Amino acid sequence: MEFTASSANLLKIKADCLIVLADAQINGVLASDDTELHGDLKALAKATNFDGKTGSAKTLHTPTLPFSQVILIGITGATSRQKQIKVIADAASKAIASGAQKVLWVAARAPDDGHWQAAMVARNVLHARYKYAKNDKVVASRLKTLIYWTGSRAEQQLASTGLDFGAAVGNGMNCARELGNLPANFCTPSYLADRASDMARDNASLDCQILDNADMHKLAMGSLLSVTAGTVEPAKFIIMNYRGGAKSEAPTVLIGKAVTFDSGGISLKPGGGMDEMKFDMCGGASVFGVMQALCASGLAINVIGLVPAVENMPSGTATRPGDVVTSMSGQTIEVLNTDAEGRLILCDAITYSERFKPRAVIDIATLTGACVMALGKQASGLLANDDDLADELLASGTRSGDRAWQLPLWEEYDAQLKSNFADMANIGGREAGTITAACFLARYAKKLPWAHIDIAGTAWLSGAQKGATGRPVPLLMDYLQQRANHST
Ligand code: BES
Ligand code: MN
Ligand code: ZN
Repeated sequence: MEFTASSANLLKIKADCLIVLADAQINGVLASDDTELHGDLKALAKATNFDGKTGSAKTLHTPTLPFSQVILIGITGATSRQKQIKVIADAASKAIASGAQKVLWVAARAPDDGHWQAAMVARNVLHARYKYAKNDKVVASRLKTLIYWTGSRAEQQLASTGLDFGAAVGNGMNCARELGNLPANFCTPSYLADRASDMARDNASLDCQILDNADMHKLAMGSLLSVTAGTVEPAKFIIMNYRGGAKSEAPTVLIGKAVTFDSGGISLKPGGGMDEMKFDMCGGASVFGVMQALCASGLAINVIGLVPAVENMPSGTATRPGDVVTSMSGQTIEVLNTDAEGRLILCDAITYSERFKPRAVIDIATLTGACVMALGKQASGLLANDDDLADELLASGTRSGDRAWQLPLWEEYDAQLKSNFADMANIGGREAGTITAACFLARYAKKLPWAHIDIAGTAWLSGAQKGATGRPVPLLMDYLQQRANHST
């Protein structure tokens, strides 16, 4: 799919669908342009009682105009970023539903955020365009080209870079969604490792290295290996290295939990809804999505993606509740519940990340059901041992509409992890489950500026909408873009 910005005469642009974001008087970007089209659209808006409020839309068939369809989208009342994103997302769905091959999109008036708005349009159109191919009858969306129209040449330039960035983010989200949606009998740790190798082969700025069980034994990743003990699927530790910045620049490390299926292990989960534990690799999938988006956007920054990939299954060789394992850091862990497995693979990945001397480490994980109870499907949970890092990530969440909310990482909570048989237990009791999980990880991140994003509630939707969301690729890409801007 192609995105281009234009400020040419609107009536001279060929497209089969015109989308206009505007108020009831069609005062958007268009108002500054005294074309006869503006007058036509004003008349159409009046004739159809288009009130211009957010949530209102009119689809018009217009034989007298050079576009066979015109879709008016209301923007009055879109006062916050979050509301503006909703308007753009709804309009994007209508653009796809129109069946058009070529859409001409007239931006809402936005002199100060031309880059942001264009990026949001590209991202949301790609998001709306994605379909999981459940059989060979599913046909791809017809939409091939989107021309994003701005009132002036100066804005066109800004919009053009915005479209490129937004398209990279949108494609990155769809990459994460596709990996998330694939069933666990297909998307195994080995499958993920192969996808990483493919991506590295196709992109000069990306390298990848895959560690297997034997390599992990040598590294003494006893905690990670305890999770894979019950399955016949070989575990993989995937290392992706994106070099966009100067050689001397310390990298940002992203660590994504990839439990390709979480049955709970010997602490078996209840049966209802267990299929959704194929999504327990969405943290890892988001790291894949970010890596792809980095390659596409060419951000000037160094980023290392670590994806510990395992399957958590019960069997005669599985880890038992009460077993004690030794992590790569040397700290011992009493595994009281084999279903608290995410932290067991992440702790060894965090220790491994020390070798890169990172400027920040961010892990992304579908870690706790408690996070879904606390924050629902709206916000990801954020916990960090570094306030500046936390603030930057929160700001990126707000700017990208992929929001996170911070929870405390106080030492009082850490006391819940006490064990009589090891340095710590892997669970902290019923209370504050998201926080005690993060406290566990924090014990491995003492030497690092570190943040943890719990995406248990945000990584996928259930019910009729069941499917991976691609979050938090937008949050992470906004954060990395900000960092790249700062360091150059
Ligand atoms: N992958 C789950 C967390 C999860 C559960 C995410 C439901 C999304 C929806 C994780 O591995 C897990 O099982 N966590 C346990 C921890 C508990 C045993 C301390 C949980 O949240 O119940
Ligand atoms: Mn689990
Ligand atoms: Zn899990």
